Amino acid sequence: MSETPKKAAITGHPVAHSRSPLVHGYWLKKHGIDGDYGRVDVAPEEAQAFYRNFAASGLTGANVTVPHKETAAVACDQLDEAARTMGAANTIWLDEDGRLCGANTDWEGFLGNLDQGAPGWDARPGTAVVLGAGGAARAIVFALLARKFTHVHIVNRTVEKAQKIVDEFGSRTSAHGWDNLGKLLGKADLLVNTTALGMTGKPLLEIDLSELSKTALVTDAVYVPLETDLLKQASARGNPTVDGLGMLLHQAVPGFERWFGVRPEVDDDLRALVLKDLGAAS
Ligand code: ATR
Repeated sequence: MSETPKKAAITGHPVAHSRSPLVHGYWLKKHGIDGDYGRVDVAPEEAQAFYRNFAASGLTGANVTVPHKETAAVACDQLDEAARTMGAANTIWLDEDGRLCGANTDWEGFLGNLDQGAPGWDARPGTAVVLGAGGAARAIVFALLARKFTHVHIVNRTVEKAQKIVDEFGSRTSAHGWDNLGKLLGKADLLVNTTALGMTGKPLLEIDLSELSKTALVTDAVYVPLETDLLKQASARGNPTVDGLGMLLHQAVPGFERWFGVRPEVDDDLRALVLKDLGAAS
């Protein structure tokens, strides 16, 4: 008797523009797995009940996107360390006892992207500057501390939000406003933008990189456009750069492995497929 095909989905509100079905669909086909990955739009007023009764959805597991990552984490019976620390789950599944388990894989996406795009980038972990203090910044701070960065400076328009992250992560982190940026860049080995600035349709990220060492790695969580103005500026002065698309692709790896039993790779064909889709939409 053949097993019932496993089903997973991106859940959130809205989900119509999510690229996750494209990514997981590519891997299902590549590995010849008889499974399905769809979209489930969960209205905010239904979110609590949906995740609490996740078994009733008929899904083996799911990705969770805004604005439900916190609600999903609260509904889980068990969370991995990252989801517990961040209070947000982006990957969920039912274990063999029917308990809902949650993970946050955004930090793994960030690391997977840099490991692939700039091998050896963390050989001498030093000081990082992270721009922004939202969910992506929190995951990236978690990732950098896991890779033994000695200090992470979080720079945000609203300093209180950066301070909240510092309160969670402790003395290897500090919070700053934008006015401090020039001085901080002078000591940075890594610069990461996690704000929406530089994204198509948003204001540009206005930044003066003249203090930044030419060996510092520069990366951007924004991937539309793929080469943001920040990355262009950094490349022009000789800094190594890694674009943000890989973060999206790599964060999907642990979920696919959990639901479908195969650890997939982020290969050139997948990147090309998603890039084509992004191009078609812009
Ligand atoms: P995500 O979860 O993707 O990180 P988010 O929680 O909406 O997204 O965070 C967006 C980040 O971009 C925040 O750090 C935000 O700064 P504030 O906390 O001060 O709002 C930053 N951001 C967005 N628009 C900005 C702007 N025009 N200037 C400076 N920072 C901006």
